[in-house]
Amino acid sequence: MLETVKELLQEVNSFNPKSEKEVDFFRLKFLGKKGKLNELFADFKSVPNESKKEFGQVINMLKQNAQAKVDTYKGTFETESNDSEIDLTRPVSLDNLGSRHPISLARNQIVDIFNRIGFTVSEGPEIEDDWHNFTALNLPEEHPARDMQDTFFIQTSPDVLLRTHTSSVQVRYMQENKPPIRTLSAGRVYRNEAISARAHCIFHQIEGLYINKNVSFADLKQALLYFAKEMFGEKTKIRLRPSFFPFTEPSAEVDVSCNICNSKGCNVCKYTGYLEILGCGMVDPNVLENCGIDSKKYTGYAFGMGVERIAMLKYGVKDLRLFFENDVRFLKQFDKSI
Ligand code: DAH
Repeated sequence: MLETVKELLQEVNSFNPKSEKEVDFFRLKFLGKKGKLNELFADFKSVPNESKKEFGQVINMLKQNAQAKVDTYKGTFETESNDSEIDLTRPVSLDNLGSRHPISLARNQIVDIFNRIGFTVSEGPEIEDDWHNFTALNLPEEHPARDMQDTFFIQTSPDVLLRTHTSSVQVRYMQENKPPIRTLSAGRVYRNEAISARAHCIFHQIEGLYINKNVSFADLKQALLYFAKEMFGEKTKIRLRPSFFPFTEPSAEVDVSCNICNSKGCNVCKYTGYLEILGCGMVDPNVLENCGIDSKKYTGYAFGMGVERIAMLKYGVKDLRLFFENDVRFLKQFDKSI
């Protein structure tokens, strides 16, 4: 029995409350009517005479210490929550810090990878004229390839529209700068498309443009292979398929090996082992000439990718709409501080 009392004494001595509630709980537990001390005083009668002295001393000490603790802490927490005594020097709580949006994370990574091989970022307007979005890019009026991108028009004749790709920024950059040119155009683009798990009327693109003397298709392929490995891992392979874009000739679409199934085939890559990530090609001489660059002296490559697509592959997101809903339960998963 003496042992139990000593244990209780230890509990009392090490009591270090954080709130008023804890103090109240403590007071009731030890000093309350049905508390430990009253229990012990009741038990005192049955203690053998020879131990009564020692036992009594310990219980008294227990009572005094418990009372001292209550006296010390009672009321101290109430004043802290009192508005008039807000302590402005207290460090702020970092509980509700925001996190970067996954599209920003993917964009920053892409930009960072190309920065390392000399590309810098250029920006342009989201509201464009027809010339910068289409005509300069070898898409004259009535050209059927204009239908590849359903356009939101703000005004007709003269046409003002929401840019359908960031290639319009490349046009502006070529007009204002002389080769060698190494630029990335990053930003929001708009297309009149039905919203689904794989498409949205607003999305983000990053396009690259390199113009210099003697730029070859091999340079393009090497830059893209470097990008794919940096973005998706050292073992990543790329595959180029011939394609068509009005502004590049020849043109290709680029696939990366599926890192979900290691190219063995799964439902994400539709059992092909590869996933499409971007379009690219050698800049059509007509585009260079339209933008005031001598196509006999210079050649160049260009590529364009959807940031959502890259983010979906990188983070295993199956529905593109999640990027636009801003549900914190989704966004929190990209918080690196968790
Ligand atoms: N602008 C194209 C699109 O939005 C993507 C693209 C393809 C950009 C090939 C390029 C390129 O610069 O060379 O569909």
